[in-house]
Amino acid sequence: MIVPTYNEIDNLEPLLEALFSLPIQAGTGWQFDVLVRDDSSPDGTGELAERLAAGRFAGRVIVSHGQKAGLGNAMKRAFDEAIERGYDVILTMDADFSHAPADVPKLLEAINSGADIAIGSRYVDGGLIPGNWPLGYIIRTRVAGAVARMLGGVDPALKELTTNFRAVRREVLERIPYGDVQAKGYGFMIFLANAFVTGSWKVTEVPISFHTRASGDSKASLSDIVEFFRIAYRLNDDSPFKQLARFITVGLLGTVVNLGVLWFLRRFFPDDGIVVLLSAIAIQASIVWNFTFHTRFTFKKFRRSHERRIPVRSLLTAFGQYELTTALTQTVIFTCFVVLSNLGVFYLLAQLLGIGAAFIVNYYVSSTYIWVR
Ligand code: GDD
Repeated sequence: MIVPTYNEIDNLEPLLEALFSLPIQAGTGWQFDVLVRDDSSPDGTGELAERLAAGRFAGRVIVSHGQKAGLGNAMKRAFDEAIERGYDVILTMDADFSHAPADVPKLLEAINSGADIAIGSRYVDGGLIPGNWPLGYIIRTRVAGAVARMLGGVDPALKELTTNFRAVRREVLERIPYGDVQAKGYGFMIFLANAFVTGSWKVTEVPISFHTRASGDSKASLSDIVEFFRIAYRLNDDSPFKQLARFITVGLLGTVVNLGVLWFLRRFFPDDGIVVLLSAIAIQASIVWNFTFHTRFTFKKFRRSHERRIPVRSLLTAFGQYELTTALTQTVIFTCFVVLSNLGVFYLLAQLLGIGAAFIVNYYVSSTYIWVR
C-alpha cells in the first residue's frame, strides 16, 4: 500500500493505526505493508515515519524519501519501488483521511473478484462526497473531469478520473510507461486513468465515501493546473476538442473551396443563365472536399487500426449520409432564416443563427452517425 506524504505529521500515525486495525487478512486473504513516500516534509513527517517504521509498526512500514517534486513524481518513484519489491497488488491512497481506511477492503475484494484495477470512485452509485465539501473543491474536480474528457478524450464510461485511491495488479503497472510521462502533479492521475481504460484490463469502479481532509492543506498549485491541461491535451489524438477543431478547420477550408470553384467556373462560363448550376457544382466540390478530409483527418479513427484501407462500401455509405446531412443543414439554415426573419430578427443575424444551428446539427450527425463504424 503506497501512502504519499507531504506535511502530514498529524495524519500519519492515526492513518497507520487505522490501516493496521482493518480485518484485511481475515476478510480478503491479503497481507500488506505500507510504503510511506515522503518528500522531505518540513513538518517532520519523514522522521516520524522512520520512527514508526522502527518502532510500533516495525516490519510493516517501509519509508522512502525524496525531494519535493510533486505528487506525480512521488507516485512514480513509489510505483518503481513497489514493483521492485514484487508486491502482487499495489494500492495507493492519500494520507489525509480523504480516503477512508474502511474502504480499503472493498478495493481488494474487487481485485479478488477478478478486476485488474479497482478505482475508488466518488461518482458511481453508492459513492459519497461530503456535504461540507468546499465549493472550490467541487468545481476543481468537476472541471478537471470535464477537461480530461473534452481535451483529453478520456473514456466517459470512467466516472472517477482524478483520484489517487486505487488498487492495481503489479502486471498492469509494469506495462504502463508511467515513468515517461512528464507529470509533476495531479495530471499524473488522468494519465493513469486514461492508461487504465485504453488497455485491455478489467477496470472496476468501487463506490467510496470521500472526506474533507482531516487536517492540513491541499498541495495543488497553479503550475499543477497548467500541467494538468498540457497532459490532458496530449492524451488522445481523438479527443472531442481536437476532433471539433479539425472539423471546423476542414469546414472553413471547404468554404474557400466552394467560393474558389464558383469564381473559377464563372470566369469560363459568365452566362448568368447557368450561375445556379455553377453554384451547385461548387457546393458539390466543397462536399467532396469536406468528405475526403473529414474521413482522412477529422475522424481519423474511422479507419480502424488494423485496416490498410477503409472498405469501399463503408466509404460509399458515409458519403451518401454526408450528402443527406448537407441537404438537412441547408434546410435548417433556410427554416431558421424564414422563422427568425418573420419574427423581426435582422436578416443577416437570422441567416447567421441558421448557419450556427446547421453547424451544430452537422457536427452532431457527423460525429455520432456518419464517421462511426
Ligand atoms: N510525497 C509527496 N510529495 N506527497 C504529496 C505531495 C508531494 O509533492 N503532494 C501531495 N502529497 C500527498 C499529500 O500529503 C496527500 O497524502 C496526498 O498526496 C494528496 O495531496 P493533497 O494536497 O491532500 O491533495 P488534494 O486534497 O489537493 O487532492 C485531492 O484531489 C486530487 C484531485 O482530485 C485528492 O483527492 C487527490 O487524490 C486527487 O488527485
